[in-house]
Amino acid sequence: MLKRPNDGSAFGFPSELLQHNTAVTRILQLTDLHVFSEAGQQLKGIPTRECLQDVVDYIMANEEPFDHVIVTGDHTHDELPESYAAVREILTPWHDRLWQVPGNHDDRILLRSAFSDRISGESDEQIRFQFAVGPWLCVGLDTHVPGEVPGNIEAGQLKWLKNLLKDSPAERVALFFHHPPVDVNSVWMDPIGLSGREQLLELVRDDRRIKLICCGHVHHEFSGIVEHTEIVTTPATGIQFDPAGDTPNFATAAPGYRVIEFDSKWFATHVVRLPEVKFIPVTD
Ligand SMILES: [Fe+2]
Repeated sequence: MLKRPNDGSAFGFPSELLQHNTAVTRILQLTDLHVFSEAGQQLKGIPTRECLQDVVDYIMANEEPFDHVIVTGDHTHDELPESYAAVREILTPWHDRLWQVPGNHDDRILLRSAFSDRISGESDEQIRFQFAVGPWLCVGLDTHVPGEVPGNIEAGQLKWLKNLLKDSPAERVALFFHHPPVDVNSVWMDPIGLSGREQLLELVRDDRRIKLICCGHVHHEFSGIVEHTEIVTTPATGIQFDPAGDTPNFATAAPGYRVIEFDSKWFATHVVRLPEVKFIPVTD
């Protein structure tokens, strides 16, 4: 039974309207895990490793199976090998269908090393992915800038994307990366967004096949439209941010994840939050 999407899905179609005479592919997006090497360590009062385990347990108990699982960065908070090993352990149910891109709280070498069976390339090369789902092409981009909180998408990667799309027979495209390419109406979050966004959005405007962009980084749900493309962000599996106010603010809200469904023509997407707020963030 497909779940009804909430009103945050401004552009995607309700699941019920997808063509169920054709196969529906289900994709899970997890983002901003912020796991520590110490099992019980907390981020502003939130035990992020326990939260991630809660999210995985909830999904396994309540969701229909997912065909693909995409993690859009900030796998760990302390960027230590033990933290990546813990993330790998918790994501065990999906090792055979896992796709990842790094966030600002990631180390490409450690991420690649922990998931060497899923991430190609060498050392600290950018981490991207691509896979086809019927007429859809899903592409992961790398916006990580070592040592920086904001992200960047530079000319070389845009050229790679342009060439990929030029040669692709895909009829529709979904992009996945960490830093959203639009402001999310937050005084304190918008300055730590994505540079190079103008060039990326120009590419998006020029290719009407790009229907959906899914990001993380802002630890809350947002949806906006740029021309023919819906741009969404997804709650973290751990600590939640409040976009209001002028300075970093934490929200008392349950961890969440995003469901994306594709049929041969359309997509539907919605956010699910766990039913209970188990931990309350502490402010300094
Ligand atoms: Fe994050």
